[in-house]
Amino acid sequence: MIRPRRFSGRDPSTLRFPVPKGGPWAAPPSRRPRARRMASGGRLLVASNRLPLRLTGGAEDGWSCSPATGGLVTALEPVLRRRGGTWVGWPGCPDAGQEALAQAAPALVGGAPYGLRAVSLNREEEHCFYQGFSNQVLWPLLHGFSALCDPDPEYWRSYREVNRRFAERLAEVAGGGGTVWVHDYHLMLVARELRELGVDGPLSFFLHTPFPPGELLESVSCGHALVEGLLHYDLVGFQTEQDQAHFVDAVRRIHPEALSEAGGGVELTFGDRRVRTGAFPISIDFKEFFGAAHNPVVMGMAWDLRRRLGDRSLLLGVDRLDYSKGIPQKLRGFRRVLRRHPELRGRMVLKQLVIPSRDGIPAYRATKVEIEGLVRAINQEFADLDSPPVEYQYGSWDRMELLAHYREADVALVTPLNDGMNLVAKEYVASNGGGGVLILSQGAGAAWELGREALIVDPGDPDAVARAIVEAHSMPLRERRRRMTSAQAVVRSRDVHRWVEGFLSRTPRMA
Ligand code: ADP
Ligand code: F6P
Repeated sequence: MIRPRRFSGRDPSTLRFPVPKGGPWAAPPSRRPRARRMASGGRLLVASNRLPLRLTGGAEDGWSCSPATGGLVTALEPVLRRRGGTWVGWPGCPDAGQEALAQAAPALVGGAPYGLRAVSLNREEEHCFYQGFSNQVLWPLLHGFSALCDPDPEYWRSYREVNRRFAERLAEVAGGGGTVWVHDYHLMLVARELRELGVDGPLSFFLHTPFPPGELLESVSCGHALVEGLLHYDLVGFQTEQDQAHFVDAVRRIHPEALSEAGGGVELTFGDRRVRTGAFPISIDFKEFFGAAHNPVVMGMAWDLRRRLGDRSLLLGVDRLDYSKGIPQKLRGFRRVLRRHPELRGRMVLKQLVIPSRDGIPAYRATKVEIEGLVRAINQEFADLDSPPVEYQYGSWDRMELLAHYREADVALVTPLNDGMNLVAKEYVASNGGGGVLILSQGAGAAWELGREALIVDPGDPDAVARAIVEAHSMPLRERRRRMTSAQAVVRSRDVHRWVEGFLSRTPRMA
C-alpha cells in the first residue's frame, strides 16, 4: 500500500510565522478557579464552531436558515440524531443568538432529538475570530500553507475571548453532567478556559484537520499556547496516526516535561492529569448514503444524467472552495490528459462542483479566480469538441442531485493537497453504483484507509493526476468492481457510528 505523504515537498523550517514569541500570543494569566464538577457519561455535549444549520437575515426582517455544509456537520449530525444530546455552536451569522435560533430552527430541525445552543458572535468577532485567527492563521498553518498566515494580534485576542465564551456556555449547559466533546481548530483553548472556570471533569477534543509537524508548531509564536491549550483536555483525538505523532512531537519540543517514555510508548501528563491521544479516522453514515443512493428518485436522476452524458465518461469533483483542495492542480491534470491523448477528447467530461466557502477571505477569492480562469482556458482550448470538456458549477447541489452524481460517476477525482480526512471520498464509495474508480490524493486522511482500493496520486503533480485519469478510464470493469466492492466494505465496517463508539470508549470517566 502506498503510504500517504503529508506536507510533501515543503521544508517545515521554511514555514516561518513572522510574529515575535510571547507578547500578544502568550496565554492569558490564570484566574482563580472555583471548583466545579462535570461528570462524564450520560448526555452528549458537543461543541463546534459550526452548528448543523446556518442563519441568515436579522432580527428586524426575520431569520431564515439553511443546512450548513462541510465534513464536520455531515459526520456529527447523524451521531446527535441517533444519540441525542446538545450541540453548542455559532449559528453562522453575526449577532444571531439563542432567540434567533429558536425562531428559525424549527423549520429545519423540527423534531430533531437533540438541542441546539447558540454562541453568538458579533461582526468584529466574526472578522477576527472566524475569518481571522481560525481561517487566516490556524487553517493555513494546519494545512501547510503558512505563507498565507495573516498574524494580526487582534485575531489572537478575539480567539481567546470567543473560546472563553464557548467555555462559559458549555459550563452553563452541562450544569454538572454530560460528556463534553469539543471539535476542531476553532476551539483549541476551550478546555483551558473550562479549567479556569473550575471545571475538573473529563474533557475531550477531536481535530478534524491535519496536525502539522512539531517543528512547525515550535517555530510559530501561537504554537506554544495552542499545544498547551490542547494539554488541558483529557483525550485529544486526531484523524490519522501521523497527525497524532506530530502532536506528540510538538509536545516533546514545546512541553518536554509533559512527556515520559513508558513501556516502549510515550505518556503525556499535564499537571496531575494524564492526557490521552489517539487516531480516530472520521467517517460517514454508510447505511444512510448507501440506502439513499438506491432511492428511486436518485436512481431516476442518475439515469437521466447518464442519458445526457451519452457515451462520455463522467469524471466528478466535489469540493468546498479552498486552496487546500487542489482544484487548480486537478484541472491542470485533466488538461494534460486532453492535450496528450487526442483519442480521449470528447470521451470524458469533468463535472466540478465548487461549494462556496469563506468568500470574505482574499486567498479564497483568489482561488476562485484561478479556478474559473482555468476552466475558461480549457474549454476555449478544446472549443471544437461537441460540448465543453469541463462543466463547472459554483454553488450547491441538493442531496438527491449530489447522490445521483456519486452514483453515476465513472471516476471521482478527490485530490486535495492536504486534508484531514475528506468525506467526499467516502460518500462517493458508499453511493456509487459499483463500477466507479476513486482517484485519491496521498494528502487526504482517507488515503490511509482506502490506499489499496483507490488510485493514489500526488495531487501537486499534474502528470500523476493525468496518468491516474487515463488508468481509471482504461481499467477493466471487473477490476473497477473489485476495487469498489472492497472500498465499500472498508467504509461500511468503519462508519461514523463506529468512530463515535471508538472515541467515546477512550474518553476517561469521572474518578
Ligand atoms: P470539508 O470538510 O473540508 O468541507 P469534506 O470532503 O470532508 O471536506 O466534506 C464536505 C462535505 O460537504 C461532504 O460531506 C459533502 O457531502 C458536503 N456537501 C457537498 N455538497 C454539499 C451541498 N450542496 N450541501 C451540503 N453539503 C454538501
Ligand atoms: O475541519 C474542517 C472543517 O471544519 C470541515 O468540517 C468544514 O467543512 C470546514 O472545515 C468548515 O468550514 P466553515 O468555515 O464553513 O465552517
